[in-house]
Amino acid sequence: MEKTFSVSIIGCGSRGCDVYGNLFHAQKDKFRIAALCDVRKEQTERFGKRYGTDELFTDEREFFRKRRSDALVIATQDQDHVRMCLRALELGYTVLLEKPVTPDKAELKALLAAAEKCGGKVLVCHVLRYAPAFTEAKRILRSGAIGRLILIEAEEHVGFWHQAHSFVRGNWRNEETTSPMILAKCCHDLDLLQYYADAPAEKVYSAGGLAFFNKANHPADAAERCADCKYLHTCPYSAEYCYITRWKECGQPQDGWPFNVVAPAPNSEGQLRKAYEEGPYGRCVFCCDNDVVDHQAVSVTFTNGVQAQLTMTAFTADTGRRICFHGTKGTLKLDEPSDSLLLEKYGQAAERFSLSELAASSKKDGFGHGGGDLGIVEAFYGLLCGTAPEETSLRRSAESHFLCYAAEKSRKSGAAIDMKNER
Ligand SMILES: NC(=O)c1ccc[n+]([C@@H]2O[C@H](COP(=O)([O-])OP(=O)(O)OC[C@H]3O[C@@H](n4cnc5c(N)ncnc54)[C@H](O)[C@@H]3O)[C@@H](O)[C@H]2O)c1
Repeated sequence: MEKTFSVSIIGCGSRGCDVYGNLFHAQKDKFRIAALCDVRKEQTERFGKRYGTDELFTDEREFFRKRRSDALVIATQDQDHVRMCLRALELGYTVLLEKPVTPDKAELKALLAAAEKCGGKVLVCHVLRYAPAFTEAKRILRSGAIGRLILIEAEEHVGFWHQAHSFVRGNWRNEETTSPMILAKCCHDLDLLQYYADAPAEKVYSAGGLAFFNKANHPADAAERCADCKYLHTCPYSAEYCYITRWKECGQPQDGWPFNVVAPAPNSEGQLRKAYEEGPYGRCVFCCDNDVVDHQAVSVTFTNGVQAQLTMTAFTADTGRRICFHGTKGTLKLDEPSDSLLLEKYGQAAERFSLSELAASSKKDGFGHGGGDLGIVEAFYGLLCGTAPEETSLRRSAESHFLCYAAEKSRKSGAAIDMKNER
């Protein structure tokens, strides 16, 4: 019989409950949800009812007065993570911590020191490391099928509507209150580069900026809110397109992201329209208080000589990642938008795998991040049972965060950064 662990959640939003809480609740033989904490009472009540718990808190001090379960999920916003995680380690929780750990390098180092001192276990939600397509690429690289890895070219297609939703109007728009884009979105990408290169980074250079989503590009005859604007039905970034047209195109889901961020469990066009008309998601994309970049390139040299390039851009119709691995005996192309993993051994016929079939064969299809959301919950269960692989350690996750901090330092200073002094 499998062991059941009790788990609590602080931050009962999109990630905390819509993803992890629901996944735990669906695996009752492994997890029992003990307590929920969120400053929004309606969230704790809604999910408390669903999970059958009345241990509900709206004040983190009260919640952290004592330990309430074996494990804790911390899925609040980026700048709250370390404060909460330090207290969680004191209380002896095993922690599932949302990424990025923190935008502040000193805080990350303090957390690392505290976790190593008390032997605490913290699993950072670099979910793509647990997604079948990405682990299969790692398996192929390890098998030697493309020979020695020389160069990795990665593209992060954020997508025009996703940039508008999360990084212009939404939670991750402004560095003051959240993290720079290289952490908020691309800590996954730099973590993957690190994972595939399989060596610490030696040097990093980055360039990029906010080119489009600012006042300078606001048409003189456009309004400051979509509902009042003559371009409501023609602007690709308009709230009408992002939240009504796309909701219909996606089959009108009640629990679908990002629509459930605009209005909880939307069940009508009118409900979503009212939410954008009255709330932050109806602001013109040229009139928000955003300052995070809309494009960025990063170039990394690893200590084993592997070279890697990442290009992140808002300006794509599709969303997802493309990673091309160039080796001495072949090329491997992982392409999320085309649902394909293509192995081209030089001088031989190419082999193509479908990413969705890879996810289906490991029973992770239909779960977020290409199955990575379910994958990390399984890894977390492994960590609780004491069988998690080294890949999940906080130090491994910290290493790719150090790379993100250095990339941002380079982007802001214009200088290449030697990683020796950045950890
Ligand atoms: N792993 C991934 O791929 C991934 C994807 C998206 C977001 N994230 C990260 O997950 C975290 C949460 O993002 P989200 O999209 O779920 O945001 P969200 O806004 O939907 O959820 C955050 C929740 O925390 C609550 N909260 C805020 N302050 C609190 C406090 N002091 N005590 C208790 N609750 C508090 C909010 O009310 C909200 O319900 C962020 O750090 C984000 O960067 C990770």
